[in-house]
Amino acid sequence: MSPAQTKSEPPAGLLAELTHRCPLGCPYCSNPLELDARELELGTAAWQRVFSEAAALGVLQVHLSGGEPAARRDLEEIVGHCAKEGLYTNLITSGIGLTKERIAVLAQAGLDHVQLSIQDCEPHSADYIAGYNGAFARKKMVAAWVTQEGLPLTVNAVIHRANISRAGKLVELAVGLGARRVEIAHAQYYGWAIRNRAALMPSVAEAEAAIAEVEALKQKLSGTIVIDHVNPDYYARTPKACMGGWGKRILNVTPSGKALPCHAAETIPGLIFWNVADHSLADIWASSPAFNAFRGVEWMREPCRSCPRREIDFGGCRCQAFALTGDARQADPVCHLSPHHGRVQQIAAELSQAGAAKSAAAYIYRRVKQREPA
Ligand code: SF4
Ligand code: FES
Repeated sequence: MSPAQTKSEPPAGLLAELTHRCPLGCPYCSNPLELDARELELGTAAWQRVFSEAAALGVLQVHLSGGEPAARRDLEEIVGHCAKEGLYTNLITSGIGLTKERIAVLAQAGLDHVQLSIQDCEPHSADYIAGYNGAFARKKMVAAWVTQEGLPLTVNAVIHRANISRAGKLVELAVGLGARRVEIAHAQYYGWAIRNRAALMPSVAEAEAAIAEVEALKQKLSGTIVIDHVNPDYYARTPKACMGGWGKRILNVTPSGKALPCHAAETIPGLIFWNVADHSLADIWASSPAFNAFRGVEWMREPCRSCPRREIDFGGCRCQAFALTGDARQADPVCHLSPHHGRVQQIAAELSQAGAAKSAAAYIYRRVKQREPA
């Protein structure tokens, strides 16, 4: 057993991708290019076993995600099982597929929290970004049903070129919808999103203005709403501690049961992922080659290896390091100490200019079959 294995604490959270099916086509989707087909999805009993194993392992929170988790007809059963196991359940949803009645049943089954994505505060733009007519109106109804049910609501808004001038208004919209928390997260570029990077990339001036606006709202709305602010990577000087550190706090299970250290980990070639059908979650967490590949600090190269921030940001994001340098062991090039940092700034400048010259029609939408067979 490696030192990294013996030191690993239990994960605090499990991100369960119940399905990759989704009614929306968001151009910034960070799920991988190859999605799991409906036929490969774990069944109800298999997911229930995974959640029982998670609870036994020490997981406290389960994030039910996708795709769109409401596309699964057994969502209520799954929530009920998680609640029975004492897990805090957070539903991450586009809202499409939820009705007032279904939200009431989910609440009764023990759902603890809802995280609702909103694409923009202008209806036409929101529907255009989502690639789904009527999505905005529906989401407003879903937000009302969630709060009427007494469930805490978080609004998730991904920020990019088309909505960056309304980052502050998105916060105000979240307040108006009765959310207790809003996540203002600048788009990240892996998975499907990298295909739309030129159409999504804002300019540095737009990014700076949006950051200042949201930071000012943090002060102004303190006590009214909690604002979680994820800054734009390509304009940063130090990277984020992606996933709170690789194999440190969270594990992710795909619709077909592959256990990943992060939702985009499959973009890194050469990693070996174990499946929950073949291994227990505890075994995966302790011994899976993919989880141990970048756990701790032993794998690091310079400049991370001797950096005082190495146990703060863990060298940043492995998926981004691979996407931008072709080597997942490099420091995240978002870091100003990375020899590739200049290239990140150059890409951001070039793409924001190229994006400005294009219309929003340049989006490549993600389309996934969502209905279960009758
Ligand atoms: Fe983080 Fe590595 Fe940059 Fe240090 S050198 S700040 S550990 S990415
Ligand atoms: Fe995979 Fe950051 S998205 S480590």
